[in-house]
Amino acid sequence: MKRRIVSVRAMQILDSRGNPTLKAYVTLDNGITGSASVPSGASTGENEAMELRDGDRRRYGGKGVAKAVENVKDVIARKLLFMDPTRQAQIDHMMMELDGTTDKSNLGANAILSVSMAVARAAAEACGIPLYAYLGGSGPVRIPVPMMNILNGGKHADNSVDFQEFMIVPIGAPTFAEALRYGAETFHALRDALKAKGYSTSVGDEGGFAPDLKSNEEACELIVEAIRAAGYEPGKDIAIALDPAATSFFRDGFYHLERSGRGKKSSSEMTELYKAWMREFPIVSIEDGLDEMDWDGFRDMTSTLGENVQIVGDDIYVTNCRFIERGIRERTTNAVLIKLNQIGTITETMEAVNLCRMAGWGFVVSHRSGETEDSFIADFAVAMGGGQIKSGSVCRSERVAKYNRLLEIEAEEERSVFHWQPTAVTP
Ligand code: PGA
Ligand code: ZN
Repeated sequence: MKRRIVSVRAMQILDSRGNPTLKAYVTLDNGITGSASVPSGASTGENEAMELRDGDRRRYGGKGVAKAVENVKDVIARKLLFMDPTRQAQIDHMMMELDGTTDKSNLGANAILSVSMAVARAAAEACGIPLYAYLGGSGPVRIPVPMMNILNGGKHADNSVDFQEFMIVPIGAPTFAEALRYGAETFHALRDALKAKGYSTSVGDEGGFAPDLKSNEEACELIVEAIRAAGYEPGKDIAIALDPAATSFFRDGFYHLERSGRGKKSSSEMTELYKAWMREFPIVSIEDGLDEMDWDGFRDMTSTLGENVQIVGDDIYVTNCRFIERGIRERTTNAVLIKLNQIGTITETMEAVNLCRMAGWGFVVSHRSGETEDSFIADFAVAMGGGQIKSGSVCRSERVAKYNRLLEIEAEEERSVFHWQPTAVTP
């Protein structure tokens, strides 16, 4: 039976960094309410859709989202009333038109996304099926392999590490539940290793440790040591993935490894550095190894390393089909990071995923460094079937919420499959 949207509300809540964000509620004529909240990044790409912030310095340092909340309750709600919640694409396009800008700066990508997600939740519940099944259809249910960011640097921590994320990937685990156990045990072994060396064991924005190490390499050395100490074989049971987020240390044509005191490097020297690291450490994926404007550098890096490692574009594509199309044409990378709030609607995010599928590229569904307890991306990653998710470390509940939701899906779903499939093949 066809359902209708009868109410659309929103409120300001806090994200995991203590900054305001939005939670939206969409209620249907049968009383069902779907709700969703949006995350927020720190190392944001230049071309991301725009988060609308109030700019009133007396409240939350200008980061309030009262205007975005009003836009949901007023402008968007008025148009959404009586619409069929299962018409996701129609609803998303309606909001895009209502906004009228390419970067959603009028109504705010945060306002639009909160509604887009809440609509999907309400529709799934109205159909009586879980969100992942509603968005993903009836095929096999592929539970993604988690990329767990257990050591934080760059913009996510105040330490001496230039690279933003050092992740572990349990490529040899037979199930998601086992993968999570591999990860948690390694995380605890890493804590012990850091303690033994007199390093801090406090954590950064994504729940990974944020010690003042002597070099970026030391992060990989310690992780390999922790993998072994936990009883696993590096490269067979557990591999490493990196997100240097290189845009954050790129200036005047060079990559400045200043925090670690390693001087500056050119684009090709960075590729050489990654190549050397790949000989030494079991690295299966490198995201944003270069600056978001360094398209030529990325292409060279992909042609040099892409046969042996997944090269993921995050800031360079910002989940935007226009940039991903160019990347596919120019063989810029061989995989894409997928973040709903970089583009601002479920429909456009699914279009980005479709481009990856058609090109035979890998894709990784991702959280943001500022998160909430909402586990939407867990269902979304299962629905998209790409087999990879990154949701931070195995501590801090806003990170673990996604992993716990995946545990639930795996336990409930008889059709679930789990396997690491290195999608890195240079076309
Ligand atoms: P962000 O970091 O959410 O701060 O942008 C995540 C990433 O770079 O992948
Ligand atoms: Zn990234």
